[in-house]
Amino acid sequence: MKLGVLASGGGSNLQALIDAQIPVAVVGVNVPGCGAFDRAHAAGLPNFVLDHRAFPSRADFDRALVARLQKYDVDLVVLAGFMRLLTPDFLGAFPHRVINVHPALLPAFPGVHAQRQAFDYGVKVAGCTVHFVDAGTDTGPIIAQAAVPVLDDDDAESLRLRVLAEEHRLLPAVVRAFAEGRIELVGRRARVRVPILQ
Ligand code: GRF
Repeated sequence: MKLGVLASGGGSNLQALIDAQIPVAVVGVNVPGCGAFDRAHAAGLPNFVLDHRAFPSRADFDRALVARLQKYDVDLVVLAGFMRLLTPDFLGAFPHRVINVHPALLPAFPGVHAQRQAFDYGVKVAGCTVHFVDAGTDTGPIIAQAAVPVLDDDDAESLRLRVLAEEHRLLPAVVRAFAEGRIELVGRRARVRVPILQ
């Protein structure tokens, strides 16, 4: 399996994939100089920067993104903190082969600042979700989730870090399961043949 990782931020989820020794064919970022780019470079991974602001439209940006990923024969795209919505054209180029990690227990708290949304709401259990990407915002079929408690002395930042630690466990486990052909999508239900996290 050829894995392409797209990121926009610090890149700690990319780092988790690298640390789990999951082969990464290419890393693409849309924010020049972001942490994910530095991590890709430090790990000696092929990489590219495509600044979305340089493109006249979302469709143009996505077309360029597809072309770059196809150059590396990518057959699974992981969005690891990639802060752009993807067009149906992009998704059509990788059908059921784009997955995202989201820092909340979907369908609760989609969109940005999900951990803060959950904290402000006052939930007692928070967590993260890895899901297939569809044209909506964090609406695609769920593959796996991990939960963490919200403690009385938490603030939004301590909760964010606890959720992030689970993302770092869950995402590599899902990618490995995908690579081993253990994930099957039936309708909008993803079946995983063995437990993803022991
Ligand atoms: C993660 O919390 C991810 O779930 C969200 O953005 C954050 C990215 O963190 N979409 P990093 O760039 O992987 O450190």
